[in-house]
Amino acid sequence: MLFELDDDFYRDPFSRFDGLREQAPVHVLHGTDGSRFWLVLGSAEIRTGLRDPRLSKDPGRIAAARVAQRRDAGLEEGASGEQRLGQILEMGEFMRSFTDEVRVVVKDELSGEFARTRAPVYRNIADRLLADLATVDGPLDLVSRFTMPYATHVTGALLGYEEDELPAFGGYVAGWMAPDTPEQRAEALAGLFPMIDELIARRRATGGEDIASALAAKVASEGRQDADALVRACLIFILITVETAVSFLATATLALLTHPEQLRLLLAEPLRASEAVEELLRFTGPHNISSQRCAVEDMEIGGREIKEGDLVVFALGAANRDGEHFPEPHCLDITRDTAGHLAFGAGRHYCPGTHQARTSLTIGLSALLDHFPGIALSGPEQEVPWVRSELLRSVRVLPVVLSPERVPSGRPGV
Ligand code: HEM
Repeated sequence: MLFELDDDFYRDPFSRFDGLREQAPVHVLHGTDGSRFWLVLGSAEIRTGLRDPRLSKDPGRIAAARVAQRRDAGLEEGASGEQRLGQILEMGEFMRSFTDEVRVVVKDELSGEFARTRAPVYRNIADRLLADLATVDGPLDLVSRFTMPYATHVTGALLGYEEDELPAFGGYVAGWMAPDTPEQRAEALAGLFPMIDELIARRRATGGEDIASALAAKVASEGRQDADALVRACLIFILITVETAVSFLATATLALLTHPEQLRLLLAEPLRASEAVEELLRFTGPHNISSQRCAVEDMEIGGREIKEGDLVVFALGAANRDGEHFPEPHCLDITRDTAGHLAFGAGRHYCPGTHQARTSLTIGLSALLDHFPGIALSGPEQEVPWVRSELLRSVRVLPVVLSPERVPSGRPGV
């Protein structure tokens, strides 16, 4: 094991990344499930690697590499083992078809112009949710009460749901993605599937200017008419959009609450919101690590020999905290030049949802601070529980107290 995956890592992966990068820009990681990855930590190596066409994100190829690793580790012997390997390969092919469709639709539909026209809708969603919180006396969890509903309602509106349908849609998506029990997840999916079916039926009948209609057209143009294909494409769209927004809005708020001078600056100069979001994406972006790539030929990265079929991941969080690129990288400074941060990746797989993400996140954060400029953590920062994921940087709960009164300057905000 290269490093312990403990609570300190989830809270602050950056110091572990720094320690490893000082030793070498590329390391090999062995998982207990037979997996083997190259972890790239050097900023220069990450920037070139993300753009290298010899590293493929094709899910079928990645699944084949995982199957080969499990075979080599002797993990899947006999008929049931072969069946399991077959399932991994099938899942790879399945993922390819759906991620391809979602990527194209996001790229084609969610332009900068589209995001600008939707801005009032997002602000309206945030205002409604925040107005409901004004009557809450005492601490509340910002994730379940604001960042999750905001993210799910924005995604629901994009898909094509009407305003009065958003609370039900948001509740099901939250129950699916952040359930307290497996039963709650099953119940949430049992509610979500008919809602998606119903939206698809409506759009097939009347058409519309929304993502459900665009996904329906895309799936049909691929020659696949089955309703399940479209439901799954919608689920992938929901997952991709909600997961990052919920995580980022919560960790960005936490970062501001623990850097009161930066929060005060943003409150005093709210027009800095979009540059603050950019710095927060650099400082605490949701992806610690990129998704996997598979080498399509033998190659070299950072002095290490990567063989065809090897899996590679890039520590985006490490590149965003690299002192060679960003002076004083561990310092949150909403006035800094953030050009070249890698929170959205780079190269062919650069996030196609950046316009949508930047617009909705800036509006969500601005609305929160407009309604509650006196927001503060309701307990010690060390007690905020982080999601135990090495990929996604996210808190499970963010306990805060909300106040419409600004904390007078000179008094600590935490
Ligand atoms: C805080 C918000 C977001 C962040 C930081 C983010 C970041 C990223 C990153 C780093 C990747 C590339 C991963 C890699 O190279 O392995 C990516 C891919 C992707 N993102 Fe985002 N994303 C965000 C929000 C969104 C939204 C709102 C959408 C859709 C509306 C979206 C759609 C996608 C899609 C479809 C891909 C796959 C691209 C591909 O594989 O070619 N993302 N995102």
